[in-house]
Amino acid sequence: MPTTRLAHRAALKDARVNIRLQDIADSLTDVIRMGRGDPDFDTPAHIVRAGQEALAKGATHYTHAQGILPLRQAIAKDIVARGGASYTPEQIVVTPGAQQALFTVALGLLDPGDEMVAACPGYHPYHQAAELAGARVVDIRTTMATNFTLTAEMVEAHITPKTKIVVVVNPSNPTGTVTPPEEVARIAEVAKAHDLLVISDEIYAQLTYGGARVQPVASLPGMAERTITISGFSKTYAMTGWRVGYFAAPADLVPALAAIHNGLAISTASVSQHAALAALTGPQDCVEDMRRTYDERRAVLCEGLRAMGIPYAEPQGAFFVYANVASVGLGATAFCEKLLREGKVLVFPGVVYGDYTDDFVRLSLTQPVEKIREACARMAGVVAAIRA
Ligand SMILES: Cc1ncc(COP(=O)(O)O)c(C=O)c1O
Repeated sequence: MPTTRLAHRAALKDARVNIRLQDIADSLTDVIRMGRGDPDFDTPAHIVRAGQEALAKGATHYTHAQGILPLRQAIAKDIVARGGASYTPEQIVVTPGAQQALFTVALGLLDPGDEMVAACPGYHPYHQAAELAGARVVDIRTTMATNFTLTAEMVEAHITPKTKIVVVVNPSNPTGTVTPPEEVARIAEVAKAHDLLVISDEIYAQLTYGGARVQPVASLPGMAERTITISGFSKTYAMTGWRVGYFAAPADLVPALAAIHNGLAISTASVSQHAALAALTGPQDCVEDMRRTYDERRAVLCEGLRAMGIPYAEPQGAFFVYANVASVGLGATAFCEKLLREGKVLVFPGVVYGDYTDDFVRLSLTQPVEKIREACARMAGVVAAIRA
């Protein structure tokens, strides 16, 4: 079909590098995949069982547009238990993944011409969501010198009369770094001073390491009325395929945002909502087990990178390590392709996340320790061959 039949907003871009690399990986055998942010763990058995039981009992219909009430009650309780704001179930909208939450929120809050400021590199779908709304993301370039975290000064320097929203993704995808609680509080003060909304994406908040702590934005003074909290079950409970996430928003914004969600999805899959309810109300040791496992993998991968002389941002959260391969002597995108074809290790270059350099690669901690050791050995071989 000629591209002229497409709307401007759908203009075809070159196939994304990550998709191209995945296609190459699919054509090879014995690839160690550390590309996508999809936990290698299966969803814990008690959550799967709850889904199966719900199906058997007839959870095969549409639900309330905002999600089943017990799940919204459990989400509200969980947010408070983790130091977040106090929300009523009416303020919560359960969505098919946090992904649809962020698109719904962007469509509901951004007018054409509006700006949203966000860390760069960052989670790139925020750009796509803003563009679909006719708005745009203004990139705040962060650096390894400050471990890629946003500061209040950086946010303030990028605010224009068109700015409507500050996006805080904490811990960060792709860098795996955590913005310190005191800095989150200072960013909140900037948002208040400039009368801005904040989207606080806390999907990785329960996966932190080395004592790092995530400050929920909405529980800071005066922030509940200007913050939309986005989170989900994909990462914490290894539930990516169930497609269930949520947003929690100020009461005055919810009816319009919920109507957009209803228009896009009608409701989130009933079976997935019941599984998510079991995730929140069941035993939580599975979360700690996975967190501890990621932490062990993090140590092994960081040691491997150090041995190769490859610097990386201090990973404090999520399950990513963001490494600077500039010293290897090849751009990061070319390096990823070489590493894949010759070392059979799949990682993604930072450009996938909008990085303004081609120096970094994101490595996901989604392989067992032995595989990560093997990946490091293969990578060391490729690096040595390039440097030779
Ligand atoms: C920062 C961030 N937000 C949102 C999402 C979307 O997650 P899901 O739609 O699986 O809940 C992701 C997925 O990688 C993410 O990294």
